[in-house]
This record gives sequence, C-alpha cells and structure tokens, in this order.
Amino acid sequence: MTESRLKKVCVLGLGYIGLPTASVIASRGVEVVGVDVKPEVVARINKGEIHIVEPDLDAVTAHAVQQGHLRASTAPEPADAYMIAVPTPFHDGKADLDYVWKAARSIAPCLVAGNLVVLESTSPPGTTDKMAALLAELRPDLKIAQPGVEGCDVHVAYCPERVLPGRVLTELVENSRVVGGMTQACAALAEDLYRIFCSGELLRTNARTAEMCKLTENAFRDVNIAFANELSIVCEKLDINVWELVKLANHHPRVNILQPGPGVGGHCIAVDPWFIVEAAPDETRLIRTAREVNDGKPKYVLDKIAAAVADKASGKRRPVVGLLGLAFKPDVDDLRESPALQIAEAVAARGDCDVVVSEPHIEHLPASLANGAGVRLTADMHEAVREADVVVMLVNHRLYQTIARDELAGRTVIDTRGIWS
Ligand SMILES: NC(=O)c1ccc[n+]([C@@H]2O[C@H](COP(=O)([O-])OP(=O)(O)OC[C@H]3O[C@@H](n4cnc5c(N)ncnc54)[C@H](O)[C@@H]3O)[C@@H](O)[C@H]2O)c1
Repeated sequence: MTESRLKKVCVLGLGYIGLPTASVIASRGVEVVGVDVKPEVVARINKGEIHIVEPDLDAVTAHAVQQGHLRASTAPEPADAYMIAVPTPFHDGKADLDYVWKAARSIAPCLVAGNLVVLESTSPPGTTDKMAALLAELRPDLKIAQPGVEGCDVHVAYCPERVLPGRVLTELVENSRVVGGMTQACAALAEDLYRIFCSGELLRTNARTAEMCKLTENAFRDVNIAFANELSIVCEKLDINVWELVKLANHHPRVNILQPGPGVGGHCIAVDPWFIVEAAPDETRLIRTAREVNDGKPKYVLDKIAAAVADKASGKRRPVVGLLGLAFKPDVDDLRESPALQIAEAVAARGDCDVVVSEPHIEHLPASLANGAGVRLTADMHEAVREADVVVMLVNHRLYQTIARDELAGRTVIDTRGIWS
C-alpha cells in the first residue's frame, strides 16, 4: 500500500464500526485519535481494552495502543482526516441525525485547509450535503466542499460501511468500498484515506449516490427476504413445504430465493429501508410493503404458538413452550431488533404457558424477559426441547443442528428456519 499524505486520522464514534476502523488504520502505523462521548469507552480503549464483541479486535486494539499509534479522547483534535461513525437511529418514521450534527459541530473548530471529512454513518440521501452546509456555516473562513463545485479548502465525502459483524476485521480490509465525494477532488482524497487499509476495490461516485447505495443494498435484501417470508405464509395455507419449494425453484439458473424466517432483525436491514421511504414516501410502495411483510412475520409466528399452546392446554398443568434462539441471526450474541426476542417477549407476556429459553450465546436473560413469571434460560438446548410441549425454532445457530429429530417426538414443532423440514 502506498504512503498516504494523511498522517493523522480522527475517528468519531468508537462503536461497532468506528473502533475496528480506528484500530485497523492505527495498525498500519498511522496516528489515530479515537473520539467517543462516553468517558468509560475512552478509558477502556486507552488501557488497550475493548467494550464490544468482535473476534480478534481485542488484540489489534491492544497492539495499536501499546505501539502508541492509537489513543482515545472525549474531544476531537486537529488531524488530517476526520471519519464520523456515530449512530443514526430511526425514531417515529424519521432518521435521527442529531449525533451526526453534534459530531460535525465538535470537529468544526479543529478544521484547517487541506482536511478531509468523511461521513460513514448510514444516512438518508442528502445528509452529507447538509453536513457540509453546517460546517460551512460554522467555519465561514474556510471554503468547505459543496456538491459538484470543484476547488475547496476542506474536502467532504460519504463512504458507507458494509462489514458483517463477526468478520469485521477481514471485511474492513478486503471488501470493496463505495467512495462518494462531494467533488472529484474530495473522492480522490477519500480514496487516499481508504487505501491506507483497504485492499478491496475503491469505487468512486458522488456522495448522494454513495448514501443511496448503502440503503439500496439493505433494501434489496429486505425486499428479497419479504418475498421468502410471504411465500412461507402462502405455502402454509396451500399445504406446501416452503423449504422444499425454495430449493426446487432455486435450481432454475436465474432464480435465487432467500430463506424465510421469523422476521427480519438487526439494526441495518430492518431500519435502512425506512430511510428511503422517508426520503420518497410516495414512490416506495414495494420497499414499504416489504418492511411491513417482514415486520408482520413475528405476529404470524406468535399466532401459531398461541394455537399450539391452546391445543396442549389440559387443565392439569400449564403447557411449556421451548424457544430455541433469541439472537437476530445465527451464531451471534446480538439481540438488537431481534424478531426472536420480540416473539419470546410476547409469548412470556401471554401468561398461559411456561417458557424455557435456549440461547447458547448469552449467560443471562435480557431484562425484558428476566422478570417474566414462568420464564427461564437454560444452558442446555436439549433440556429446552425435553421439557417443552411446543418447540419453536427461532434462530438456526449451528449448535442446534445437533438436536436429533427423535428428541422432538410427541411435541408440536414450529420450525421458522426449516432446519427440521
Ligand atoms: N454495526 C454495524 O454492523 C454497521 C454496519 C454498517 C453501518 N453501520 C452504521 O454505522 C454507524 C455507527 O454504527 P455502530 O454500530 O458503530 O454504532 P455504535 O452505537 O456501536 O457506536 C457509536 C458510538 O458513537 C458514539 N458517539 C455518539 N455521538 C458521538 C459524538 N458526537 N462524538 C463521538 N462519539 C459519539 C457513541 O457513544 C457510540 O460509542 C450507524 O450509522 C450504523 O447504522 C453499522
């Protein structure tokens, strides 16, 4: 990789995206200051420790801190490039961009001619333009990049992140990246920044297209999952095994249907399509409907559980529901926006059954379940099946493949992932 003209980088937001990014850049020998508003996060990183779960990140961060290439702070300081990776949550039908504006305000006093500011947070189209306009307002003494106007003091770009949690360190380096500049010169400087640590292809475009590209990738996945989820409901009605159907249809050389499930979770696919709907509400019938189909799937699963519980109720004892998995996807401990957790909470709230939960990746039930009467977590997935009258497969963790079909005998099985179908 070539020597960069960017010698010092300031990364704002040291979470799942910002911390690995800061650590990987520092591991290339570049001076990095990581900034977070949480003093406890800053203190841990300065001790060479990490506060998030990501394979191998602890060693990379510890090494970068020991070598003196990475340090953390609660306030930004002068640097050549600034990367903003703060949260962009979705509340009440709108993207909440307050964190982005606060981060931009915090770096404005540090900016000097020649700087680069890159927004990485997932954002609605036009956010980078607005961020540049805010910086221009705060620093009238500097010519901040404006869309399509060549010649500026401070370069501005948008570069979305595509990493998969659990593989972040590999994907940060190897994935191709979309580099969206406000101008050609902005894109060129941003490319220099990513070349420090990316071996993947760097694809240049403008900032607005780059913003939309991130949202499009996740909306594409969401729409395709919605198709599979709708198909699963249709098939149930028509007494057809959806898993067999998908497998057969996928033998067509131009068909690739995704797998149905209990809904869509995580904080990207279940959220990002709404940013497009917000930006163009009258033009997004398909994207909105896909969100609604996927958001409706947990309720469909719940209705099936309720019917199975009613069927098993005998008057002598409460039926037991065994729930397999709480995470938003297989083999992770992340419960954020998880449809499995949503289903578990609703089953626990019913009050007409006892609930045994298996989730091999957590040690304690989340607070939303821990206080429910008749709800308990077991470390033994076989016990969750053995004790249950109704077994619900919610997350296809690899470990669950060791549950033999014989163990399910005599139980009502609701398999939302098709592992036994
Ligand atoms: N996590 C992912 O897999 C992923 C993937 C692609 C894109 N994204 C996007 O990246 C962005 C960051 O996501 P994340 O998962 O890293 O979030 P996160 O919540 O893990 O981390 C964000 C961090 O930013 C800090 N912060 C908030 N305001 C700040 C400010 N003004 N200055 C400095 N720090 C501040 C918070 O304290 C927090 O530690 C979001 O827009 C998200 O949608 C995330």
